[in-house]
Amino acid sequence: MIRHRRMRQHKWVRDLAAETVLTPKDLIWPVFVVEGENQCQPVASLPGVDRYSIDILVSEVKKARDLGIPAVALFPVTPDDKKTEDGRAALDENNLICRALSEIKDKVADIGLIADVALDPYTSHGHDGVVSDDGYVLNDETVDILCRQAVLQARAGADIVAPSDMMDGRIAAIRKALDENGLINKMILSYAVKYASAFYGPFRDAVTSAGNLKGDKKTYQMNPANRKMALREARADVGEGADMLMVKPGLPYLDIIRDISQSCDLPVFGYHVSGEYAMLKAAAQNGWLNYDDCLHEKLIGFKRAGCTGILTYAAREMAAKL
Ligand code: PBG
Repeated sequence: MIRHRRMRQHKWVRDLAAETVLTPKDLIWPVFVVEGENQCQPVASLPGVDRYSIDILVSEVKKARDLGIPAVALFPVTPDDKKTEDGRAALDENNLICRALSEIKDKVADIGLIADVALDPYTSHGHDGVVSDDGYVLNDETVDILCRQAVLQARAGADIVAPSDMMDGRIAAIRKALDENGLINKMILSYAVKYASAFYGPFRDAVTSAGNLKGDKKTYQMNPANRKMALREARADVGEGADMLMVKPGLPYLDIIRDISQSCDLPVFGYHVSGEYAMLKAAAQNGWLNYDDCLHEKLIGFKRAGCTGILTYAAREMAAKL
């Protein structure tokens, strides 16, 4: 008789037979930055996540590094009075994200810095690009701005720029802009496959764009019903010169992570987005689920699907447990 359970009878043999291992080195920690000093503001819909001012963030990033986390992804919170229709604060070389990048780069060694390239933190309407009079998010005009934004962030200290805007042609354009500015070793993590998802809700609370957002992002982010389209997006970004690809959200799209990690030869990252994190936190706070065990199970699922990196707000908690 074939006894599958023979290989599951002791922890040590289960460990030996494990096909996938989760380590702190797999985790990328997304963080929110606010203006001011000594700020540590909780986000109601993301229990356990705080928005930090730069001074606090520097020491928190050191702690993350000491836990073995290889990189952090920074997201700025722009005060409402600095948001405009065209998101021009994105191109201010002294804006919050640029200051945060240069401070951290200066004070914390041995951790990668990922900067988000998109206009939504800076636009009064909350869209990732500039919007025409009739409400369409303009592709090529936006790409021009994103290129300049990426160059500023790379100069300020970002090692990786991560366009999350879903405009067409931006990877090639950003690569060209970086190269022309001598930033040849700066990497591009393309949010190649980003679905128009309701799971981004708590993130928009965290960056205070939720109330501003007019309409939805369905004319640029992808339809959750589509798989072939995801492969086409990913292949295009490989061709345009991306160094890494991201699929987002994660759990509802593990099939896409699998498809892309099998058909493209770049590293694929998954984003365990704000809503995925909030669901688990909420259930755990109610005593309905065991937080640590469910978190580990979720994140090992990303790896099993084919991710080499996972963005999660729980990165530090998970790394400490591992
Ligand atoms: C926007 C951006 C979003 C997220 C990361 N970058 C939200 C959106 O597209 O509206 C979501 C991340 C999360 O939910 O954790 N450029």
